[in-house]
Amino acid sequence: MTIKAVVFDAYGTLFDVQSVARVTDAAFPGHGEVITQIWRLKQLEYTWLRALMGQYADFWTVTQDSLAYTLDTLGLVATPELVAQIAEAYDALALYPEALEALDALAPLRLAIFSNGSPAMLGRLVAQAGIESRLETVISVDEIGVYKPDPRGYRHVEARLGLGRDEILFVSSNGFDIAGARAHGFRVARIARLPADALRRELAGAATIGPALMFKALRLRPERLGFDADVTIAALTDLVALVAQGEDAWGR
Ligand code: 2OP
Repeated sequence: MTIKAVVFDAYGTLFDVQSVARVTDAAFPGHGEVITQIWRLKQLEYTWLRALMGQYADFWTVTQDSLAYTLDTLGLVATPELVAQIAEAYDALALYPEALEALDALAPLRLAIFSNGSPAMLGRLVAQAGIESRLETVISVDEIGVYKPDPRGYRHVEARLGLGRDEILFVSSNGFDIAGARAHGFRVARIARLPADALRRELAGAATIGPALMFKALRLRPERLGFDADVTIAALTDLVALVAQGEDAWGR
């Protein structure tokens, strides 16, 4: 089967979640880095816990709850209004520099996002980045009420696009998402936002392992869950050559 649609994860894949550090540091000078890292770690942890508990609450709630947890842990006082205001940083994340070029070059294919984000958050994110017209659709887990990597999510993507699993190329930087999509049977490209040797060098050279480096060690590596990506790419623009290779790219 040839690839008919390329489906992108949003946070960490098309958009740089680390770009919230500017906002967290402006709100609590000197604490930006630690807030940013604990916040993102907790945010995803809450999605997994809520999925296991069968207690879905949308990503806007999870994003605010995980930020409130972080600030409370660090002894930083914030009103619910300030928490909401800082959380809005997730609606204004920076698009990775090569993303526009990649979307434009892939344009003959159907392009979509599949994300944990709530429809309202994703709407704002895509609009501020100016990529609405490049996407056929934005699919949120909110449509089924369970977070990634629950298999129902990836099945929902198939149903929404009306395609078979082997006609969809899924692209993510998030190890858990890659494992989920691969376990479902999508073709999966992992975008390595940090090369493995660069991380190893950073870890080896660090006198102490701070929050940002700990985050990288926990979240920017492929997971050991038995479902690896078909290919690893260094930039989203590498997808163009990959798709052009057709079946040869997959070796299956
Ligand atoms: C997303 O769903 C998992 O952060 C990732 O966009």
